[in-house]
Amino acid sequence: MQTLRLTPDADGISRASALLRAGQTVAIPTETVYGLAADARNGDAVARIYQAKGRPSFNPLIVHLPDAETVATIAEMHPQAQVLARAFWPGALTLVLPLRPDAGIASLVTAGLDTIGLRVPAHPAARALLRDFGGPLAAPSANASGRISPTSADHVLSDDGGLNGRIAAVLDAGPCNVGVESTIIGWIDGRATLLRPGGIPAEAIEAALGRPLIRHDGDPVAPSAPGQLTSHYAPNAALRLNAQPRPGETHITFGRPGPFSLSETGDLTQAAARLFDMLRKADAQGRPISVAPIPEQGLGAAINDRLRRAAAPRD
Ligand code: TXA
Ligand code: MG
Repeated sequence: MQTLRLTPDADGISRASALLRAGQTVAIPTETVYGLAADARNGDAVARIYQAKGRPSFNPLIVHLPDAETVATIAEMHPQAQVLARAFWPGALTLVLPLRPDAGIASLVTAGLDTIGLRVPAHPAARALLRDFGGPLAAPSANASGRISPTSADHVLSDDGGLNGRIAAVLDAGPCNVGVESTIIGWIDGRATLLRPGGIPAEAIEAALGRPLIRHDGDPVAPSAPGQLTSHYAPNAALRLNAQPRPGETHITFGRPGPFSLSETGDLTQAAARLFDMLRKADAQGRPISVAPIPEQGLGAAINDRLRRAAAPRD
């Protein structure tokens, strides 16, 4: 298969849309990371996502919609979900909600669960595509299973963990400005729970709700988020965290200048946007990698979560 690189203009959007209607997979830009999209109502199309990524098992996928009104046709929007939707959509927030039985979503999307993860992305090209396509798009991050999430079309097509030749097209809208995946919130026994830290800080969500989230502190694997593999986002090189540099390593700095600085000024938003690109750049040096300490507040929680997964033992 020859993977097309499409531009995010009217012609590129309508070609991407036509491929998706034909049951193909297309990598699409979002403000967080590039997603590998397929028609969420078409089980064969969704199966092509797993095939292209080489995912070992069927984890539930996030479904992308053009607006919060469409969400209500697919899931039950209870009052707390409505508060979060009004505060953060479109944006880097995924809500896990009760699936409506008549939603018409392929069961492979939810891995047979009676809940579904939904997100209204803010990226203009993603929104234009969703409007043109006129339906729900299932889209996990557009990388081979277990590899670093892509924050540019070049990452999607990269020879190392990329999907060139395995997908129909990539809609190239340049680099993603958030750079880490969406924050996932679900409700367990009726209580809002942080299932995955991400692009919207947990503190901002707590402020909107007016109450604390249930968190799984110190345990990056939330038990109720199936598919949260401990080892994930893995570079080829070994990785040390909260580290001082040692000779022979590539050292990723924070709050200091350097060839591998996540942010010279210690800006966590900038560090999140650069994180996956920096891991690739450091990995390309072919030496073990160490990363300086990153504070755990705000987007630092998502950055540290991704780093812990990248450093986790692999088997
Ligand atoms: O920013 C993002 O969220 C990106 C972009 C492309 O939107 N997407 C993304 O999707 O990260 P993915 O498939 O890599 O992550 C999906 C995660 C899974 O790890 C799973 O644990 C959780 O969402 N999830 C999805 N549906 C769920 C459900 N019904 N219950 C619990 N967790 C769910
Ligand atoms: Mg992923």
